[in-house]
Amino acid sequence: MLKRSNIVAAEEDLQAFYRELDAQSIAALWTQGGGGGPEPRSKAVPFVWHWQDVRPQAIRAAELVGTEQAERRVLILANPGLPFRAATNTLTANIQVVMPGEIARAHRHTAAALRLIIESEGGYTVVNGHRIPMLPGDLVLTPNWTWHDHANDSNAPMLWLDGLDSPLIRMLECGFREEFETEAQSAGVGADPSFAKYGAGGLRPAWESAPTAQYSPLWHYPYTQTREALERLAVEGTASPFDGVIMEYTNPVTGGPAMPTIGCYVQLLRPGEHTQAHRHTSSAAFHVIEGLGYSVVDGQRLDWEDKDVFCVPGWAFHEHVNTGNQPAILFSHTDVPVMRSLDLYREAAHPAGRQ
Ligand SMILES: [Fe+2]
Ligand SMILES: [Fe+2]
Repeated sequence: MLKRSNIVAAEEDLQAFYRELDAQSIAALWTQGGGGGPEPRSKAVPFVWHWQDVRPQAIRAAELVGTEQAERRVLILANPGLPFRAATNTLTANIQVVMPGEIARAHRHTAAALRLIIESEGGYTVVNGHRIPMLPGDLVLTPNWTWHDHANDSNAPMLWLDGLDSPLIRMLECGFREEFETEAQSAGVGADPSFAKYGAGGLRPAWESAPTAQYSPLWHYPYTQTREALERLAVEGTASPFDGVIMEYTNPVTGGPAMPTIGCYVQLLRPGEHTQAHRHTSSAAFHVIEGLGYSVVDGQRLDWEDKDVFCVPGWAFHEHVNTGNQPAILFSHTDVPVMRSLDLYREAAHPAGRQ
């Protein structure tokens, strides 16, 4: 009969064996406490960064450091549970500030980025020669290896959320970066051609074949359009039990995610709405575009209001509550496309409905 072997060696023999292995850069798997538990447990913890704390520090950074000194004047919202500085294990949620009259020089990198504009009265990003306006609530994409530089030609500071996949890129060791030959790209004629071609959603230029890049050819999703779409859908009365009226920013050519490594979403929670709790292997960072409320993440209540940022680690239960009397609108970016493309996406509702 076949059965498990039972070998009890002398401790000193075992230790001598392990030392020998170690000297040969070999390790015994059974001593590593590995294998993991029955389900994932992120090192990232639920956390909220309040805008009233973050904003003054971003302005202070702009007094102390120029865009000559810091190619990107960015404050990293660093999750206290992670051994590296990022919002979740795969994503950053940073705050960038560009003051009136400043530029941030042109460069490109394999890390994909999104900008969700928090404060602005003008200013723009040039993406591959396209000048993209940046107004509060707008989503601007600078996908993998696209040239981008930022400029503030208005009279007010510009602050935005920078969401990048850089922790994932570091882990995969596929980070390349390059500086453009000049400080700023010349931003061709015509305003925002990516939007002119693809911004209508259901229409696309008929004389061009669809772009083959995996990322969206639309690099600007203006908030006016986003908000209108959310309100139109909210009237229909159908919504996700876990997220309220939630919509994904899509690649208009494929209907898939905006970028292959980062999914972008926006949701409207109706006044008084309290969603059901669920969890998924994907992690997310949320930015409160407008509204007042709280989310319960892994049993912890995170109170939020306008412009706050909070994170939901992978496989942590979460539910959202709008405590205000106006709609609450949350932007979020996630690693859902990574999980899905690798067949690792799993989702589960909380057995009790809520935590
Ligand atoms: Fe960049
Ligand atoms: Fe969720």
